[in-house]
Amino acid sequence: MEQATLVIIKPDGLKKSLTGNILTRLSETKLKIIGAKVVAVTEDLGKKHYSHLQDQPFFDELLKYITGKLHGENRVMPLVYWGENAINKVREIAGATNPEEANPVTIRGAYGRILTSGLFENVIHASSSSDEAEREIKLWFSPVDISRPLYPVEEIEQPSHKEKVWR
Ligand code: CDP
Ligand code: MG
Repeated sequence: MEQATLVIIKPDGLKKSLTGNILTRLSETKLKIIGAKVVAVTEDLGKKHYSHLQDQPFFDELLKYITGKLHGENRVMPLVYWGENAINKVREIAGATNPEEANPVTIRGAYGRILTSGLFENVIHASSSSDEAEREIKLWFSPVDISRPLYPVEEIEQPSHKEKVWR
């Protein structure tokens, strides 16, 4: 089944200048990139992305990680990959959540580490189900940022809507 999945190159991936290496590894999947951008992660966005983990003991540290406070680097790179079995293909190349347990030839096995705090600094995020992928893609991307139709859209008038445009 063709499907979409969200990948995020986390702040450590950008800080360690691993973007090229990670994209090269992901290109082994032969999946299509249908969305890509660089985002400065706010507290609100980080909390929404990891809302299902809010009761975990590592949640505060995880929030500091994804918002860039651990690395002095609040940029992340969200990407949407599309194709046959995309979710599993990306999860396989990403490797296990715990970088110590991850196969060394996977992205997390090669580039991840465990911090003294116990946090898994594992370089990329990858959606783990199609429901999760849909929720996450809708959180990180607008319909206009995706190069193919993906989920149902609607058009709404926003007369009082303010938007930043180039001057
Ligand atoms: O990212 P993945 O789906 O593999 O794992 P998760 O269970 O959804 O957890 C999200 C992120 O929280 C992980 O990628 C790790 O960065 C972090 N985490 C951690 O530091 N310690 C754990 N015991 C579990 C997750
Ligand atoms: Mg997860």
